[in-house]
Amino acid sequence: ESRPFASYGSALHIALPQPPRLGQLLTLEIDYEAGDGPGVCWLAPEQTAGKQKPYMYTQGQAVLNRSFFPGFDTPSVKCTYSAMVKVPEGFTAVMSATSWEKQEDNTFVFKMSQPIPSYLIALAVGDIVSADVGPRSRVWAEPCLIEAAKKEYDGVIEEFLAVGEKLFGPYVWGRYDILFMPPSFPFGGMENPCLTFVTPCLLAGDRSLVDVIIHEISHSWFGNLVTNATWGEFWLNEGFTMYAQRRISTEVYGSAYTCLEAATGRALLRQHMDNTGEDHPLNKLRVVIEPGFSLFLGVNPDDTYNETPYEKGYCFVSYLAHLVGDQSKFDAFLQAYVNRFKFQSITADDTLGFFLEYFPELKEKGVDSIPGFEFDRWLNTPGWPPYLPDLSPGEQLMKPADELAELWAANSLNMEAIEAVDITAWRTYQLVYFLDQVLQKSPLPEGNVKRLSKMYPKISEAQNAELRLRWCQIVLKNNLEAEYSKVKGFLHSQGKQKYTLPLYRAMWGGSEAARALAMETFSATAPQLHVNVQNYVKKILGLAVAE
Ligand code: BES
Ligand code: ZN
Repeated sequence: ESRPFASYGSALHIALPQPPRLGQLLTLEIDYEAGDGPGVCWLAPEQTAGKQKPYMYTQGQAVLNRSFFPGFDTPSVKCTYSAMVKVPEGFTAVMSATSWEKQEDNTFVFKMSQPIPSYLIALAVGDIVSADVGPRSRVWAEPCLIEAAKKEYDGVIEEFLAVGEKLFGPYVWGRYDILFMPPSFPFGGMENPCLTFVTPCLLAGDRSLVDVIIHEISHSWFGNLVTNATWGEFWLNEGFTMYAQRRISTEVYGSAYTCLEAATGRALLRQHMDNTGEDHPLNKLRVVIEPGFSLFLGVNPDDTYNETPYEKGYCFVSYLAHLVGDQSKFDAFLQAYVNRFKFQSITADDTLGFFLEYFPELKEKGVDSIPGFEFDRWLNTPGWPPYLPDLSPGEQLMKPADELAELWAANSLNMEAIEAVDITAWRTYQLVYFLDQVLQKSPLPEGNVKRLSKMYPKISEAQNAELRLRWCQIVLKNNLEAEYSKVKGFLHSQGKQKYTLPLYRAMWGGSEAARALAMETFSATAPQLHVNVQNYVKKILGLAVAE
């Protein structure tokens, strides 16, 4: 019997003929069909990179897999799975599984032999091929992207895995493969075990967006092995993963670069809190989600996807490391934590309880209740993080960018000083950081952005998605109508939620012309956006959202 549960799904109730005995094994066979649902995306050939064959994929996180298969769609339950997938001739199926085998008759057989939460079960079917990029890694992509995919990550993945294992313990998932998705994939990356799904925007040609891969690899320990028991504790997945990502990045690329990347993360948190107001209830680490007794209470977990669990979560984990005061001791703690809770689903109380147990001298000192920094405050009070990790090792990279942004914000431009700064050798994240500063100071005095655009085609004509996002934001904030076509072009080229929503928000908050651009762009691109992203854009534009 299907019963109401929440706006984001109904419950399947099954009455057993007899009450089961303790320890009895039950086999339940459910015959069902999955059609159109938010978790299962069916793409027409025009929505793929190759534009020849259709494509389908699933995206489970947070609560979408209930439209893919009936199950306990909560991260508090873990199970193994197997699947048999029959596809038409000329198609390949891939899944988040530890083993796969192609049988006769276009049938693929998958098995995930480790227990995982339902949101990590994922399937994609399309014209996809693979290429090896490491001893336990290959990239998967449509044939027209495979060369670029291989070139982007050939020979670099193994080092990230090895550093992860050194820091956090064994990699239990066997393979680590990467699937490049069609352009409308709504996320930068999704940590489906054994097979991360990523946006094709990562194909920047220069590995500059590899932090996304390091992030998804970090979920192999934080999220996929130790999992948040409820979506209200999402920060446990993402905050620890951000910390792990930056630990790996520090080992591989050094602290200057990693602090620069972290500073761009902090800028995103600042923008997010400015948009929502610091006191917004979603700006606490622990969020109230449970639907309760009524359909109208509670929050849809998918609506809690914002910078707070990531960057405030990162600050809290950094604060715990700061309390310990010794990086190698804290690394050892993280490894013990993973080992203690692997294959389990836990709450922040478990995490923090284990922390205090692991460091009895800190427990003794009462570090959980230092005024202003109480663990309870971190978890349950919205607002800017009470502690920010020291990012000064990145100063050497940030300072020139800060100074240049300052020069461009002046009422009368000091071109001599500006021309003296050579940005040709700047790394992508240095440019990103510079653009975030410019955005923060925008609107700039009349004419400055136009000049900036002319002076730095490396920025204003960039193909790199992170640069394009910032440039579009600057164009909109400064009402540079001459470059509106770039906003349109970017939104037509991809459908990542974190790129799409800020641009629509900026357009809708802008001039008449900007609003018209928003409407025009949305009506042309809506069909190719993920249905969740479509609905969020509709909300921004004040359009009706079908329940
Ligand atoms: N697990 C998330 C993506 C996600 C979150 C999907 C919530 C659905 C609901 C993934 O690990 C992620 O955080 N991706 C980021 C990468 C970035 C932080 C480096 C993204 O997509 O931008
Ligand atoms: Zn993540």
